[in-house]
Amino acid sequence: MHPTAELHVHIEGTLEVDLLVRLAQRNGLPLPSFDPDVLRQRYRFGKLQDFLDVYGQNVAVLRTEQDFYDLAASYLARVRAAGVRRSEIFFDPPTHLARGIRMETILAGLTAALDESRADGLSADLIMCFQRDLGADAAMGLLDMALPFRDQFIGVGLDSSEVGYPPSLFTRVYARAAAEGLRRVAHAGEEGGPEYVWEAIDLLGVERVDHGNRALEDADLVRRLRDDQIPLTVCPLSNLALRTAPPELRDHPLPVMIEEGLNVSIHSDDPAYFGGYIDDNFAAVTRELGLSSAQTATLARNALTSSFASPQEIAGWV
Ligand code: HPA
Ligand code: ZN
Repeated sequence: MHPTAELHVHIEGTLEVDLLVRLAQRNGLPLPSFDPDVLRQRYRFGKLQDFLDVYGQNVAVLRTEQDFYDLAASYLARVRAAGVRRSEIFFDPPTHLARGIRMETILAGLTAALDESRADGLSADLIMCFQRDLGADAAMGLLDMALPFRDQFIGVGLDSSEVGYPPSLFTRVYARAAAEGLRRVAHAGEEGGPEYVWEAIDLLGVERVDHGNRALEDADLVRRLRDDQIPLTVCPLSNLALRTAPPELRDHPLPVMIEEGLNVSIHSDDPAYFGGYIDDNFAAVTRELGLSSAQTATLARNALTSSFASPQEIAGWV
């Protein structure tokens, strides 16, 4: 894999079955089974919500600062070995706060792992996600409670069930985040239509769109994304697992996106659930879509130049 950045990964989605079992045992918590193979059989999804249900149940094993540290340290070690230079990692506080875990605990564990990673040469930062199906008031409440920890994350994102929860609901929350100097991204156009991508750009002022696949259905939107070179963080193996792309990877729209001159890059989303890390995604698209080395180099470079690292740091990578 060419040197690259991972810009679309949910830390909770890196919870491998082996760590899931270890944390459940360490914390004395139940699981539907303690057999990794049985647990993995649940990883068959018809749509986004099927995945979110299992993901939401599994995160219950994360309780202590050490748990969050172990989770992030495992992920970072895995992608450092793959040659990733920079990682911007989503974390989902609502699911943890609702279980009585404190923001201090979550951030202390994640931040300790990220600090060690930086010292080892893999640059990393956190992006806090609002859970869109909890609505705008919950999002504003989360932003309020997170602002005292503002130095521990660089931006905000929007994830979870998409359809029925359009970006427009979160306009005020994103304006407030922008006023606080936070970077802004949002999931849009994964299951939701092109209008969700329009709203993310025009109403939320996002600097990147997470997924964005369905933008291809709207020629005016494709033109806008191309003209402004708004990055789309595409996750091919996620699209296969959640059926947000055709069932065969060889029919994935990535080549069309490249052909249209869009600023696309490749990421893993939830690698423990979707069958692979960022390097596995690169290997799969290279194999199945017949991309040239120049094309995969461009995808890898797009991620580095679309990252929120400092211009000096980026200049050292590209
Ligand atoms: N889509 C929406 N929400 C998510 C995802 C995803 O792929 N992964 C974790 N939360
Ligand atoms: Zn995602």
